[in-house]
Amino acid sequence: MKKDKYWLMGPVYDALSWVFAGNAIFKCKCSMLTPEYLKPGDKVLFAGVGHGKEAIYAAERGAKVTVVDLSEAMLDKFREGIAKSGKNLDIRVIHNDIFKFEEFGEYDMVTGNFFLNLFPESMVADVLAHLIKLGKEDAYVVISDFAFPQGNPLAKLFKNLYWYTAILIFWATTGAAVHPVYDYRRYMIEAGLDMQDEKHTEVLGIDAYTSFLGKKVKAKV
Ligand SMILES: C[S@@+](CC[C@H](N)C(=O)[O-])C[C@H]1O[C@@H](n2cnc3c(N)ncnc32)[C@H](O)[C@@H]1O
Repeated sequence: MKKDKYWLMGPVYDALSWVFAGNAIFKCKCSMLTPEYLKPGDKVLFAGVGHGKEAIYAAERGAKVTVVDLSEAMLDKFREGIAKSGKNLDIRVIHNDIFKFEEFGEYDMVTGNFFLNLFPESMVADVLAHLIKLGKEDAYVVISDFAFPQGNPLAKLFKNLYWYTAILIFWATTGAAVHPVYDYRRYMIEAGLDMQDEKHTEVLGIDAYTSFLGKKVKAKV
């Protein structure tokens, strides 16, 4: 078994995101887990779940949740979170590389939260295509991540500084790829998703995080 790249980050990941963003990251990750898009009994997949409080939240809302993560250190924290909830939740935990997880066409919603940003640009379209394939033919695909740097020059500067601070910490501790913020909306459109919603979460009055919801378009017969 390869060394767990998150051995250092695993135990402190959520505490660090709290220092970095307060509740904003959690809020962003839950922003599409609403009655409009998530019904009790829906099968939801969280790719690279990490500590995954949002996956626990989805299960509390009645979803049948599957989480996949490559890091045992992250999954230990996730399991702690389930135990803390004290509830009997429908959650399946899978320790695996998302690329080796091939339950294609199974999920009503597939989420990649702060996940695509781990990969170099040359891989992003392939990772997204894999996530899309895991969804049913009319599945929702949700991508939440750092906001694309746009707006006035000050907002752009803030968003770039915010992003590069985060990615440099991840580069140093986990070997993540260093790159500009990806244009997730463009990737989702190029992957053929019908973009249906976009929610912004602010930090210090600036929309620092975005959650995108796209829907797979049923193949015409
Ligand atoms: C930056 S963290 C994000 C965690 C969580 N989704 C969140 O938003 O807080 C990225 C997670 O992806 C996991 N990961 C990285 N590469 C992976 C892969 N190829 N397959 C599955 N999980 C992976 C890491 O172990 C880590 O838990």
